[in-house]
Amino acid sequence: MALLEVRDLHTSFFTPAGEVKAVNGVSFNLERRKVLGIVGESGSGKSVTAYSVMQILESTGKIVSGSVKFDGQELVGAGERAMKKIRGNRISIIFQDPMTSLNPTYTIGRQLMEAILLHTNRNRRQARERAVEMLRLVNINEPEKRMRQYPFEFSGGMRQRIMIAMALACEPDILIADEPTTALDVTIQAQILELMKSLQEELGMAIIMITHDLGVVAQLCDEVIVMYAGSICEQGTADEIFYNPKHEYTKGLLRSIPTADTAGRRLKPISGTPIDLLNMPKGCPFAPRCDNAMKICLRERCERTRINEDHQAACWMNKKPSLTLDSVGRADGPSLTDGPGAGVMFPGPFAADLLETPDRETPRTRGRVVPMPGDVPADVNNSGAELPAPGAGQAPGADSTESMNNTSQTDSGLNHAEGGGGDD
Ligand SMILES: Nc1ncnc2c1ncn2[C@@H]1O[C@H](COP(=O)(O)OP(=O)(O)OP(=O)(O)O)[C@@H](O)[C@H]1O
Ligand code: SF4
Ligand SMILES: [Mg+2]
Repeated sequence: MALLEVRDLHTSFFTPAGEVKAVNGVSFNLERRKVLGIVGESGSGKSVTAYSVMQILESTGKIVSGSVKFDGQELVGAGERAMKKIRGNRISIIFQDPMTSLNPTYTIGRQLMEAILLHTNRNRRQARERAVEMLRLVNINEPEKRMRQYPFEFSGGMRQRIMIAMALACEPDILIADEPTTALDVTIQAQILELMKSLQEELGMAIIMITHDLGVVAQLCDEVIVMYAGSICEQGTADEIFYNPKHEYTKGLLRSIPTADTAGRRLKPISGTPIDLLNMPKGCPFAPRCDNAMKICLRERCERTRINEDHQAACWMNKKPSLTLDSVGRADGPSLTDGPGAGVMFPGPFAADLLETPDRETPRTRGRVVPMPGDVPADVNNSGAELPAPGAGQAPGADSTESMNNTSQTDSGLNHAEGGGGDD
């Protein structure tokens, strides 16, 4: 059993303008002693997911449905008394901005001691000793003297380290770090991450690291969740996400960060803006910004599909290689999903949608010839091989994962007059 099991979590804010669906069906596991990264652009629902786990949502926010099990205990609906025993003691959080979490009118020592007295059975003397010990642990020098100082007397990096000390003082099972290094310069950021990694190994806790910085993920995380519009679009080990991305949004994020390979070249930010959470589209939420969007993407959301045992993604591109001309237009196309939708037969017109671009002009299609349904190129399965003759297509219900792994990352030329999304 995983330490934390989140299943189909839906959290909304009920505002005068309507229901803001901030988290839409998020599911993940966090294993003991592991670091899970949650990445995504601003507004993708990273913090609201964390606040839902801790149940510290603003008054307009509500967990609409789903389950959050911590060490076997259901937290959704557990009530405030039960949550008070968990917050700070067993699950701690470091917030985005340390200044908003530290009280400017109290000394650091008092704030640390209060946290320890509140969450443990220590007396005042023991709490003081523990506070000093924690400051030393996070590399604050002269900790006894520092205990008597106020937050404004510390630099940004030191304040963030104090927040870490406060969160770890009660030795939680899970530390949620919500963008803990965003406000810091690169050198201090690296020091804080190094510190968190060594504390995690020393204390044996699990960490949820929320960030929009893929560099942080690479440095720290075992597993990564990529969020867009309140949903998980891709999930896998850090290696899989970095070296074998299977969602167009993740590919876009990766194209927008500097690497040794991109030195001297212009980085490519993802164009467009995130969707309006008050009016969620029916299909893939990334479709309006996706260069490779197909008709099916606008009409229907893709289930998360298993790419391999370490990797899942919710992108129709991963279904394409399983299609052949034979399946297009046939009344009983192949099974296009595994996982929850396994064995579902899609009708031919549906399958055909996977081979068509939407009737819209995007910056990439503008001025170019967008192939029509009948213009499917010969290498439709992206393997370079000719398509099988009609009648020799993939058997209905056949598992598409094998071909998907080998081909979908190099998707290109299927729907576009020029290369697909993977090129720069
Ligand atoms: N109190 C609120 N009322 C209405 N909408 C809210 C509220 N809090 C958050 N939201 C909305 O929920 C969505 C998810 O917000 P969240 O704070 O989780 O984003 P995030 O991924 O953490 O972004 P960032 O990287 O900027 O911190 C956003 O669209 C946000 O506008
Ligand atoms: S190809 Fe379709 S499903 Fe995949 S990210 Fe683009 S719009 Fe979404
Ligand atoms: Mg946030």
